[in-house]
Amino acid sequence: MTLPKSFKAMVVSETADKKFVREITQKELSDLPAGELIIEVKYSSLNYKDALSASGNKGVTRKYPHTPGVDAAGVVVDCSNRSFAMGDQVIVTGFDLGMNTPGGFGQYISVPSGWAVKLPQGLSARDSMACGTAGLTAALCVMRLMASGLTKDSGEVLVTGATGGVGSIAVGILAKLGFNVVAATGKTEEKDFLTRLGAKTIISREEANDTSGRPLQKGRWAGAVDTVGGNILATAIKTAKYGGLVAACGNAMSADLAVSVYPFILRGVSLLGVDSVEIPINTRIRAWQKLAQDWKLDLSGDVITECSLEALSPYIDQILKGGIRGRVVVNLTA
Ligand SMILES: NC(=O)c1ccc[n+]([C@@H]2O[C@H](COP(=O)([O-])OP(=O)(O)OC[C@H]3O[C@@H](n4cnc5c(N)ncnc54)[C@H](OP(=O)(O)O)[C@@H]3O)[C@@H](O)[C@H]2O)c1
Repeated sequence: MTLPKSFKAMVVSETADKKFVREITQKELSDLPAGELIIEVKYSSLNYKDALSASGNKGVTRKYPHTPGVDAAGVVVDCSNRSFAMGDQVIVTGFDLGMNTPGGFGQYISVPSGWAVKLPQGLSARDSMACGTAGLTAALCVMRLMASGLTKDSGEVLVTGATGGVGSIAVGILAKLGFNVVAATGKTEEKDFLTRLGAKTIISREEANDTSGRPLQKGRWAGAVDTVGGNILATAIKTAKYGGLVAACGNAMSADLAVSVYPFILRGVSLLGVDSVEIPINTRIRAWQKLAQDWKLDLSGDVITECSLEALSPYIDQILKGGIRGRVVVNLTA
């Protein structure tokens, strides 16, 4: 297969006065790092972490100029160790993609073959990016809660940051599995959206954010998926009922967590950390299979906004303000 000399990508650069600018430009294939696998990217998606990378957050991306995009789905065009065949459809999420390795906001990526999983049957490349890292993380949270004993008969399950990428897919999966989902959101105008996703009850961000200073509150949740961290995660822990399970995966509100030990030692509450970046490949494959089969959601235009690379920048600014509903899929073929 003849590869093009250059391809289209978003490049984020640091200016002399320490500002960060984004442009869509042509990059040379030879600019990519040496990797076993070269993938022609068809679709990517926007995650909160991409917005941090695209706005100069050096905790995510150390060196600029840089092409963000922690997610990519596309076709193998070269594989030096033959672990994939030419033409295989693959998904790459996490590891270092889009952080310090040029990511899915470019039409080609070059990565270690161990970062890729075959696109599972039942998902198109676009479907897989409708889920992306957010969907993978939501699935991993639900898998972790269920492996720890949560069943649909356990009681109410709270999802925080419910209209966001991870939150909305977590609501959808839990509802599909028959759980009684309570969605906490700062966007009260999105009640209908959350109900359509399957939430039984919707509470405001304020209600999910206890500021009383008390170490325990009345126990309500059998389980929780927290995507925001900070005092909302602390509240989820304080309001978990006896034996409650709280999966923590995000920090959109804050990376801090101030709780006493009382929920743990008096109610046996468990805090379950969930990571999608370095998760072992077998768990990753299992999660993608669930997203493609039993847990597959009908992610319609209600949840998905599709855009070209050229139209992506305003969505990056919007996700940083917590303003995105559902998922933004980036079409690299447009
Ligand atoms: N552990 C992992 O491997 C992993 C993987 C993916 C993502 N994450 C993390 O998970 C979080 C969510 O990611 P995402 O891609 O779903 O982002 P997102 O689409 O921006 O969703 C985050 C949601 O959190 C709520 N929110 C935003 N700012 C808030 C604030 N200051 N206080 C309270 N709630 C706030 C908003 O929902 P409402 O308006 O509905 O409240 C927002 O839509 C991020 O922190 C991300 O870094 C972690």
